[in-house]
Amino acid sequence: MVSATKPISTYLLLLLSFSFIPSNSTDPTPSPWPLQFHSILFMNYSKGSLQMIDLWYDWPNGRNFNIIQNQLGKLLYDLEWNNGTSFFYTLDSNKECRSAQLEVGILRPNWLDGANYLGQKYVDGFLCNVWEKVDFVCKGSLQIIDLWYDWPNGRNFNIIQNQLGKLLYDLEWNNGTSFFYTLDSNKECRSAQLEVGILRPNWLDGANYLGQKYVDGFLCNVWEKVDFIWYYEDVLTKRPVHWVFYTGRAAHVMTFEVGAVLEDAKWQAPVYCFEKSGDQKNTELGSVVAGGSQENLVAGVLRGSMGL
Ligand SMILES: *[C@@H]1O[C@H](CO)[C@@H](O)[C@H](O)[C@H]1NC(C)=O
Ligand SMILES: *[C@@H]1O[C@H](CO)[C@@H](O)[C@H](O)[C@H]1NC(C)=O
Ligand SMILES: *[C@@H]1O[C@H](CO)[C@@H](O)[C@H](O)[C@H]1NC(C)=O
Repeated sequence: MVSATKPISTYLLLLLSFSFIPSNSTDPTPSPWPLQFHSILFMNYSKGSLQMIDLWYDWPNGRNFNIIQNQLGKLLYDLEWNNGTSFFYTLDSNKECRSAQLEVGILRPNWLDGANYLGQKYVDGFLCNVWEKVDFVCKGSLQIIDLWYDWPNGRNFNIIQNQLGKLLYDLEWNNGTSFFYTLDSNKECRSAQLEVGILRPNWLDGANYLGQKYVDGFLCNVWEKVDFIWYYEDVLTKRPVHWVFYTGRAAHVMTFEVGAVLEDAKWQAPVYCFEKSGDQKNTELGSVVAGGSQENLVAGVLRGSMGL
Protein backbone atom coordinates (compact mmCIF):
# COMPACT_ATOMS: atom_id res chain seq x y z
CA MET A 1 0.00 0.00 0.00
CA VAL A 2 2.62 2.47 1.13
CA SER A 3 4.95 1.71 -1.74
CA ALA A 4 2.04 1.95 -4.23
CA THR A 5 0.84 5.37 -3.11
CA LYS A 6 4.19 7.04 -2.76
CA PRO A 7 4.93 7.50 -6.44
CA ILE A 8 1.45 8.95 -6.89
CA SER A 9 1.86 11.56 -4.19
CA THR A 10 5.27 12.51 -5.54
CA TYR A 11 3.69 12.91 -8.96
CA LEU A 12 0.92 15.06 -7.47
CA LEU A 13 3.49 17.21 -5.69
CA LEU A 14 5.34 17.67 -8.95
CA LEU A 15 2.11 18.63 -10.72
CA LEU A 16 1.27 21.07 -7.96
CA SER A 17 4.65 22.72 -8.05
CA PHE A 18 4.44 23.03 -11.81
CA SER A 19 1.05 24.67 -11.63
CA PHE A 20 2.08 27.16 -8.96
CA ILE A 21 5.56 28.14 -10.04
CA PRO A 22 5.31 30.35 -13.13
CA SER A 23 7.54 28.71 -15.69
CA ASN A 24 8.53 31.23 -18.35
CA SER A 25 10.24 28.62 -20.50
CA THR A 26 7.15 26.47 -21.03
CA ASP A 27 4.45 29.16 -21.22
CA PRO A 28 3.34 29.91 -24.77
CA THR A 29 4.04 33.44 -26.01
CA PRO A 30 1.64 35.42 -28.21
CA SER A 31 2.51 35.71 -31.90
CA PRO A 32 3.73 39.17 -32.87
CA TRP A 33 1.30 41.06 -35.09
CA PRO A 34 1.95 40.86 -38.82
CA LEU A 35 3.37 44.20 -40.00
CA GLN A 36 0.32 44.87 -42.15
CA PHE A 37 -3.12 43.34 -41.86
CA HIS A 38 -6.81 44.00 -42.29
CA SER A 39 -9.34 42.71 -39.82
CA ILE A 40 -13.05 43.15 -39.21
CA LEU A 41 -13.86 43.32 -35.53
CA PHE A 42 -17.23 42.85 -33.93
CA MET A 43 -17.23 44.92 -30.76
CA ASN A 44 -19.67 44.30 -27.95
CA TYR A 45 -19.14 46.95 -25.26
CA SER A 46 -20.13 46.47 -21.66
CA LYS A 47 -22.86 49.09 -21.98
CA GLY A 48 -24.48 46.98 -24.68
CA SER A 49 -23.63 49.04 -27.75
CA LEU A 50 -22.39 47.20 -30.83
CA GLN A 51 -19.85 48.28 -33.43
CA MET A 52 -18.18 46.83 -36.48
CA ILE A 53 -14.60 48.04 -36.81
CA ASP A 54 -12.70 47.81 -40.06
CA LEU A 55 -9.11 47.73 -38.78
CA TRP A 56 -6.20 48.48 -41.12
CA TYR A 57 -2.95 48.04 -39.20
CA ASP A 58 0.02 49.34 -41.16
CA TRP A 59 3.26 49.39 -39.16
CA PRO A 60 5.74 49.99 -42.05
CA ASN A 61 3.85 53.17 -42.92
CA GLY A 62 3.41 54.10 -39.25
CA ARG A 63 -0.38 54.28 -39.32
CA ASN A 64 -3.46 52.56 -38.02
CA PHE A 65 -7.03 53.08 -39.20
CA ASN A 66 -10.24 52.14 -37.42
CA ILE A 67 -13.34 52.64 -39.53
CA ILE A 68 -16.15 52.33 -37.03
CA GLN A 69 -19.76 51.56 -37.85
CA ASN A 70 -21.97 52.07 -34.81
CA GLN A 71 -25.11 49.96 -34.94
CA LEU A 72 -27.73 52.04 -36.78
CA GLY A 73 -25.44 55.01 -36.15
CA LYS A 74 -22.66 57.05 -37.57
CA LEU A 75 -19.74 55.89 -39.60
CA LEU A 76 -16.62 57.18 -37.83
CA TYR A 77 -13.02 57.35 -38.97
CA ASP A 78 -10.30 57.03 -36.35
CA LEU A 79 -6.92 57.57 -38.01
CA GLU A 80 -3.79 57.20 -35.87
CA TRP A 81 -0.27 58.12 -36.89
CA ASN A 82 2.88 56.82 -35.25
CA ASN A 83 3.98 60.37 -34.37
CA GLY A 84 1.10 60.40 -31.85
CA THR A 85 -1.36 62.47 -33.89
CA SER A 86 -4.88 61.04 -34.13
CA PHE A 87 -7.76 62.28 -36.25
CA PHE A 88 -11.30 61.33 -35.43
CA TYR A 89 -13.86 62.38 -38.02
CA THR A 90 -16.98 61.72 -40.03
CA LEU A 91 -17.22 62.08 -43.80
CA ASP A 92 -20.85 63.17 -43.83
CA SER A 93 -22.27 66.64 -44.32
CA ASN A 94 -21.67 67.56 -40.65
CA LYS A 95 -17.89 67.64 -41.33
CA GLU A 96 -17.00 66.79 -37.73
CA CYS A 97 -13.37 66.28 -36.80
CA ARG A 98 -11.29 66.29 -33.68
CA SER A 99 -7.61 65.60 -33.36
CA ALA A 100 -5.48 64.62 -30.40
CA GLN A 101 -1.78 64.47 -29.71
CA LEU A 102 -0.74 61.46 -27.65
CA GLU A 103 2.64 60.61 -26.19
CA VAL A 104 2.56 57.16 -27.72
CA GLY A 105 2.18 56.17 -31.34
CA ILE A 106 0.39 53.11 -32.67
CA LEU A 107 0.82 49.67 -31.17
CA ARG A 108 4.14 48.02 -31.99
CA PRO A 109 3.92 44.58 -33.65
CA ASN A 110 5.50 43.06 -30.51
CA TRP A 111 3.26 44.96 -28.10
CA LEU A 112 2.25 41.69 -26.43
CA ASP A 113 5.82 40.83 -25.40
CA GLY A 114 6.03 40.15 -21.70
CA ALA A 115 2.31 39.43 -21.39
CA ASN A 116 1.30 37.19 -18.54
CA TYR A 117 0.05 33.75 -19.62
CA LEU A 118 -3.24 32.80 -17.93
CA GLY A 119 -3.96 29.42 -19.54
CA GLN A 120 -6.50 28.18 -22.08
CA LYS A 121 -10.16 29.00 -22.46
CA TYR A 122 -12.91 28.49 -25.04
CA VAL A 123 -14.00 31.82 -26.53
CA ASP A 124 -16.50 32.17 -29.39
CA GLY A 125 -16.13 28.42 -29.93
CA PHE A 126 -12.33 28.54 -30.34
CA LEU A 127 -9.88 27.04 -27.87
CA CYS A 128 -7.62 30.00 -27.06
CA ASN A 129 -4.44 30.75 -25.19
CA VAL A 130 -5.15 33.71 -22.92
CA TRP A 131 -2.70 36.43 -21.93
CA GLU A 132 -3.11 39.48 -19.81
CA LYS A 133 -1.13 42.63 -20.44
CA VAL A 134 -1.07 45.42 -17.90
CA ASP A 135 0.85 48.70 -17.89
CA PHE A 136 1.85 48.35 -21.52
CA VAL A 137 2.07 52.08 -21.99
CA CYS A 138 3.66 53.45 -18.86
CA LYS A 139 7.16 52.39 -18.03
CA GLY A 140 7.10 52.48 -14.27
CA SER A 141 7.34 56.23 -13.88
CA LEU A 142 6.05 57.62 -10.60
CA GLN A 143 4.26 60.89 -9.96
CA ILE A 144 2.63 62.62 -7.06
CA ILE A 145 -0.43 64.55 -8.23
CA ASP A 146 -2.01 67.28 -6.17
CA LEU A 147 -5.56 67.25 -7.55
CA TRP A 148 -7.96 70.16 -6.97
CA TYR A 149 -11.34 69.38 -8.49
CA ASP A 150 -13.62 72.44 -8.46
CA TRP A 151 -16.87 71.88 -10.36
CA PRO A 152 -18.77 75.01 -9.15
CA ASN A 153 -15.98 77.18 -10.53
CA GLY A 154 -15.62 75.03 -13.66
CA ARG A 155 -11.95 74.18 -13.13
CA ASN A 156 -9.64 71.29 -12.36
CA PHE A 157 -5.98 71.48 -11.38
CA ASN A 158 -3.34 68.74 -11.47
CA ILE A 159 -0.07 69.78 -9.88
CA ILE A 160 2.27 67.03 -10.94
CA GLN A 161 5.60 66.17 -9.37
CA ASN A 162 7.49 63.68 -11.51
CA GLN A 163 9.88 61.56 -9.47
CA LEU A 164 13.21 63.44 -9.44
CA GLY A 165 11.78 65.50 -12.29
CA LYS A 166 9.84 68.59 -13.14
CA LEU A 167 7.02 70.14 -11.19
CA LEU A 168 4.28 70.60 -13.73
CA TYR A 169 0.98 72.47 -13.61
CA ASP A 170 -1.97 71.14 -15.60
CA LEU A 171 -4.86 73.58 -15.32
CA GLU A 172 -8.14 72.70 -17.04
CA TRP A 173 -11.15 74.96 -17.54
CA ASN A 174 -14.65 73.75 -18.26
CA ASN A 175 -14.70 75.71 -21.54
CA GLY A 176 -12.15 73.17 -22.84
CA THR A 177 -9.02 75.32 -22.47
CA SER A 178 -6.09 73.64 -20.73
CA PHE A 179 -2.74 75.11 -19.73
CA PHE A 180 0.29 72.97 -19.06
CA TYR A 181 3.19 74.90 -17.59
CA THR A 182 6.14 75.00 -15.28
CA LEU A 183 6.81 77.86 -12.87
CA ASP A 184 10.61 77.60 -13.08
CA SER A 185 13.01 79.83 -15.00
CA ASN A 186 12.36 78.00 -18.29
CA LYS A 187 8.89 79.57 -18.43
CA GLU A 188 7.43 76.73 -20.46
CA CYS A 189 3.75 76.72 -21.29
CA ARG A 190 1.53 74.89 -23.70
CA SER A 191 -2.19 75.36 -24.04
CA ALA A 192 -4.74 73.10 -25.67
CA GLN A 193 -8.34 73.45 -26.67
CA LEU A 194 -10.36 70.29 -26.12
CA GLU A 195 -13.97 69.80 -27.10
CA VAL A 196 -14.78 68.48 -23.66
CA GLY A 197 -14.51 70.29 -20.37
CA ILE A 198 -13.58 68.81 -17.03
CA LEU A 199 -15.12 65.61 -15.73
CA ARG A 200 -18.70 66.05 -14.51
CA PRO A 201 -19.38 65.05 -10.88
CA ASN A 202 -21.55 62.18 -12.18
CA TRP A 203 -19.07 61.02 -14.83
CA LEU A 204 -19.23 57.49 -13.43
CA ASP A 205 -22.97 57.18 -14.11
CA GLY A 206 -23.69 54.04 -16.07
CA ALA A 207 -20.47 52.35 -14.98
CA ASN A 208 -20.55 48.59 -14.83
CA TYR A 209 -20.47 47.17 -11.27
CA LEU A 210 -17.94 44.39 -10.90
CA GLY A 211 -18.31 43.48 -7.22
CA GLN A 212 -16.10 43.97 -4.17
CA LYS A 213 -12.38 43.60 -3.79
CA TYR A 214 -9.68 44.50 -1.27
CA VAL A 215 -7.34 47.16 -2.63
CA ASP A 216 -4.60 48.89 -0.65
CA GLY A 217 -6.14 47.27 2.45
CA PHE A 218 -9.60 48.78 1.88
CA LEU A 219 -12.69 46.78 0.98
CA CYS A 220 -13.88 48.48 -2.21
CA ASN A 221 -16.79 48.46 -4.58
CA VAL A 222 -15.38 48.18 -8.10
CA TRP A 223 -16.80 49.63 -11.28
CA GLU A 224 -15.56 49.60 -14.84
CA LYS A 225 -16.43 52.33 -17.31
CA VAL A 226 -16.50 51.19 -20.94
CA ASP A 227 -13.15 49.40 -20.80
CA PHE A 228 -11.51 52.72 -20.01
CA ILE A 229 -11.16 52.92 -16.26
CA TRP A 230 -11.48 50.61 -13.28
CA TYR A 231 -12.60 52.53 -10.24
CA TYR A 232 -12.31 51.37 -6.61
CA GLU A 233 -14.36 53.05 -3.87
CA ASP A 234 -14.15 52.35 -0.16
CA VAL A 235 -17.30 50.49 0.89
CA LEU A 236 -17.43 52.15 4.33
CA THR A 237 -16.63 55.80 3.59
CA LYS A 238 -17.43 55.96 -0.16
CA ARG A 239 -14.08 57.65 -0.78
CA PRO A 240 -12.15 56.70 -3.90
CA VAL A 241 -9.16 54.52 -3.08
CA HIS A 242 -7.71 53.57 -6.42
CA TRP A 243 -8.28 53.73 -10.15
CA VAL A 244 -6.58 52.17 -13.15
CA PHE A 245 -6.76 53.41 -16.69
CA TYR A 246 -6.87 50.88 -19.49
CA THR A 247 -3.34 51.94 -20.32
CA GLY A 248 -2.24 50.46 -17.01
CA ARG A 249 -1.54 53.79 -15.36
CA ALA A 250 -2.78 53.49 -11.80
CA ALA A 251 -3.54 56.04 -9.11
CA HIS A 252 -3.65 55.46 -5.37
CA VAL A 253 -5.62 58.13 -3.54
CA MET A 254 -3.65 59.22 -0.47
CA THR A 255 -5.84 62.07 0.83
CA PHE A 256 -9.38 63.12 -0.03
CA GLU A 257 -10.53 66.43 1.49
CA VAL A 258 -14.15 67.01 0.55
CA GLY A 259 -14.96 70.73 0.20
CA ALA A 260 -11.33 71.90 0.07
CA VAL A 261 -10.91 74.73 -2.46
CA LEU A 262 -7.60 76.11 -3.70
CA GLU A 263 -7.40 79.90 -3.42
CA ASP A 264 -8.24 81.81 -6.60
CA ALA A 265 -4.79 83.37 -7.06
CA LYS A 266 -3.24 79.92 -7.55
CA TRP A 267 -5.49 79.29 -10.59
CA GLN A 268 -3.92 82.10 -12.60
CA ALA A 269 -1.83 80.70 -15.45
CA PRO A 270 1.48 82.61 -15.80
CA VAL A 271 1.70 85.47 -18.28
CA TYR A 272 3.93 83.51 -20.70
CA CYS A 273 0.96 81.19 -21.39
CA PHE A 274 -0.70 84.12 -23.15
CA GLU A 275 2.27 85.17 -25.28
CA LYS A 276 2.11 83.98 -28.86
CA SER A 277 5.82 83.51 -29.54
CA GLY A 278 7.05 80.64 -27.36
CA ASP A 279 6.70 77.82 -29.86
CA GLN A 280 10.19 76.38 -29.47
CA LYS A 281 9.51 75.59 -25.83
CA ASN A 282 6.24 73.89 -26.52
CA THR A 283 7.69 70.74 -28.03
CA GLU A 284 9.95 70.04 -25.07
CA LEU A 285 7.13 70.46 -22.63
CA GLY A 286 4.84 68.39 -24.79
CA SER A 287 6.62 65.17 -24.00
CA VAL A 288 6.79 65.95 -20.31
CA VAL A 289 3.14 66.82 -20.19
CA ALA A 290 1.79 63.89 -22.09
CA GLY A 291 2.70 61.42 -19.37
CA GLY A 292 0.33 63.02 -16.95
CA SER A 293 -2.36 64.19 -19.30
CA GLN A 294 -2.50 61.38 -21.77
CA GLU A 295 -5.48 59.82 -20.08
CA ASN A 296 -7.24 63.18 -20.07
CA LEU A 297 -6.76 63.50 -23.81
CA VAL A 298 -7.68 59.89 -24.39
CA ALA A 299 -10.67 60.45 -22.15
CA GLY A 300 -11.72 63.29 -24.39
CA VAL A 301 -11.35 61.16 -27.48
CA LEU A 302 -13.17 58.26 -25.88
CA ARG A 303 -15.99 60.42 -24.59
CA GLY A 304 -16.30 61.76 -28.09
CA SER A 305 -16.48 58.32 -29.60
CA MET A 306 -19.08 57.23 -27.08
CA GLY A 307 -21.23 60.31 -27.41
CA LEU A 308 -21.18 60.89 -31.17
C1 LIG B 1 -23.11 41.36 -25.97
O1 LIG B 1 -22.63 41.05 -24.67
C2 LIG B 1 -23.66 40.84 -23.72
C3 LIG B 1 -23.02 40.67 -22.37
O2 LIG B 1 -21.90 39.85 -22.43
C4 LIG B 1 -24.49 39.63 -24.15
O3 LIG B 1 -25.54 39.40 -23.23
C5 LIG B 1 -25.08 39.88 -25.54
O4 LIG B 1 -25.76 38.74 -25.99
C6 LIG B 1 -23.97 40.24 -26.53
N1 LIG B 1 -24.57 40.63 -27.79
C7 LIG B 1 -24.20 40.11 -28.97
C8 LIG B 1 -24.94 40.60 -30.16
O5 LIG B 1 -23.32 39.27 -29.04
C1 LIG C 1 1.89 63.27 -37.84
O1 LIG C 1 1.74 62.75 -39.12
C2 LIG C 1 0.53 63.11 -39.79
C3 LIG C 1 0.48 62.41 -41.14
O2 LIG C 1 1.66 62.59 -41.86
C4 LIG C 1 0.46 64.64 -39.94
O3 LIG C 1 -0.76 65.02 -40.53
C5 LIG C 1 0.59 65.26 -38.55
O4 LIG C 1 0.63 66.68 -38.67
C6 LIG C 1 1.87 64.77 -37.87
N1 LIG C 1 1.90 65.28 -36.51
C7 LIG C 1 2.99 65.85 -36.00
C8 LIG C 1 2.88 66.31 -34.57
O5 LIG C 1 4.02 66.02 -36.64
C1 LIG D 1 -11.60 79.52 -20.83
O1 LIG D 1 -11.50 80.07 -19.52
C2 LIG D 1 -10.17 80.45 -19.12
C3 LIG D 1 -10.23 80.92 -17.69
O2 LIG D 1 -11.23 81.88 -17.51
C4 LIG D 1 -9.64 81.51 -20.08
O3 LIG D 1 -8.32 81.86 -19.74
C5 LIG D 1 -9.68 80.98 -21.52
O4 LIG D 1 -9.28 81.98 -22.41
C6 LIG D 1 -11.10 80.52 -21.85
N1 LIG D 1 -11.09 79.88 -23.18
C7 LIG D 1 -11.99 80.16 -24.11
C8 LIG D 1 -11.85 79.40 -25.40
O5 LIG D 1 -12.88 80.99 -23.95
